[in-house]
Amino acid sequence: MPNPRRDALIARLPKAELHLHIEGSLEPEMLFALAARNGVAIPFGSAEEVRAAYDFSNLQDFLDIYYQGMGVLLHEQDFFDLTWAYLRRAAADNVRHVEIFFDPQGHTERGIAFETVLDGIERALKQGEVELGISYRLIMCFLRHLSEEDAGMTLDQAVPHLGRIHGVGLDSSEVGHPPARFERVFARARSLGLHVTAHAGEEGPPAYVREALDLLKVERIDHGNRALEDPALVERLVSEGMTLTVCPLSNLRLCVIGDMADSPVRRMLDLGLKATVNSDDPAYFGGYIGDNFRAVAEALDLTAAEIVTLAENSFTGSFMPMADQIAYLAEIAEVARD
Ligand code: ADE
Ligand code: ZN
Repeated sequence: MPNPRRDALIARLPKAELHLHIEGSLEPEMLFALAARNGVAIPFGSAEEVRAAYDFSNLQDFLDIYYQGMGVLLHEQDFFDLTWAYLRRAAADNVRHVEIFFDPQGHTERGIAFETVLDGIERALKQGEVELGISYRLIMCFLRHLSEEDAGMTLDQAVPHLGRIHGVGLDSSEVGHPPARFERVFARARSLGLHVTAHAGEEGPPAYVREALDLLKVERIDHGNRALEDPALVERLVSEGMTLTVCPLSNLRLCVIGDMADSPVRRMLDLGLKATVNSDDPAYFGGYIGDNFRAVAEALDLTAAEIVTLAENSFTGSFMPMADQIAYLAEIAEVARD
């Protein structure tokens, strides 16, 4: 049942978002506006038609539309507008820190310069820091359906901008594209001082989560749902304090779960796993971080203490400095006391 007190707590808690693909925040209205501005043809007559097409049976169904949608992003200003719109939505949900993914290969393979993408996203992030008080980290993802060599060339393109990019991730079609294929490029990213994270266990088996830990040496697991099938793996994730960036509405819309009541968030918390709540691709999955918190809290009837834990985990699982994490924990404690 909806619970206004619980929703008020969710709204008042400071939050960090750790799993957000900026290209997945492209709302149908902006898709239309950018298609017109840039003279890009799209096979839809209205934003409503676009929304109606967002009916996915699995990850690949979504990815096909997601890569198509990116085609309207051409200029630095487009990447700025996209990122700025997301930050305004995040600020409305009391998000104070974001660690956002971008998919450079989704743009460079269309002939867009790496710098065009980076400049536009970063300009919005910097403005967000000043005007909205949202700090950030920027994580560049490798598309796992492409080769490790291609990922390596993307890392080469990032090297002149290392101070501006804080980490690498691994996303796109999971099954059939195990983390092991990216061991060398991740080793190089780590040697360059970059943080490392990877999507694993969204559709892929627990073995992919193990590979992400053992071979890629990730600091976070993005999704991690299927880790729950392997008790020894769960024990390891608990003992290592590994953060899992769970995305409830994404799981529902991509049929990773059949019903929000099947969200792994409660089970993860009960097992002592460090779960967080995130929006993944909010324009495609029906909601931003606040919507994700409310949906999962209602379906699982989460307690105030559990919601507070999720907010705490979002900061302690982030790549922000420890002193900043501690300051947010103090603020969360204050909100929780009221
Ligand atoms: N790219 C954007 N969203 C994704 C997801 N949920 N899983 C894998 N790749 C993605
Ligand atoms: Zn994702």
